[in-house]
Amino acid sequence: MTADRRIVLSSDHAAIPLRLAVAAHVTAQGWEVVDLGPATPESTNYPERGAEAARRVASGDCRFGIILCGTGQGIMMAANKVKGVRCGVCSDTFSARMIRQHNDANMLSMGARVVGEGLALDIVDAFLSAPFDGGRHAPRVEMIKALEA
Ligand code: RB5
Repeated sequence: MTADRRIVLSSDHAAIPLRLAVAAHVTAQGWEVVDLGPATPESTNYPERGAEAARRVASGDCRFGIILCGTGQGIMMAANKVKGVRCGVCSDTFSARMIRQHNDANMLSMGARVVGEGLALDIVDAFLSAPFDGGRHAPRVEMIKALEA
């Protein structure tokens, strides 16, 4: 499968069951999943987990990344340090749609201690199905990219 149908998933120890549920959900939709783990529940560092996934997206190896920790916040902060990544934390479907349409986000973060599985999967669907609107939003995304220089 080509990179444009590939999603990288990563979490810390706080979000393993939700990550596995997301993996099954998007696999059933025909996405190829690169699951970076962890497989076992020992404590692990969300900055490393987020950065590893972000590098897969920034390199073009994966079209999107979905990352999870307890709140979704710390792993998002780490991912956004990687040049080329635009990641938002979402706990509602409206925001998930808008970070694609207006911000051209290429990564989604969620908190496993914030959202339940049903809502999380709806958020994933909203994120993956919304296109970037372009138009007046394009120069603003370019301004975000310019901040990385
Ligand atoms: C782990 O206890 C927790 O700090 C982490 O999952 C996350 O919520 C950090 O932002």
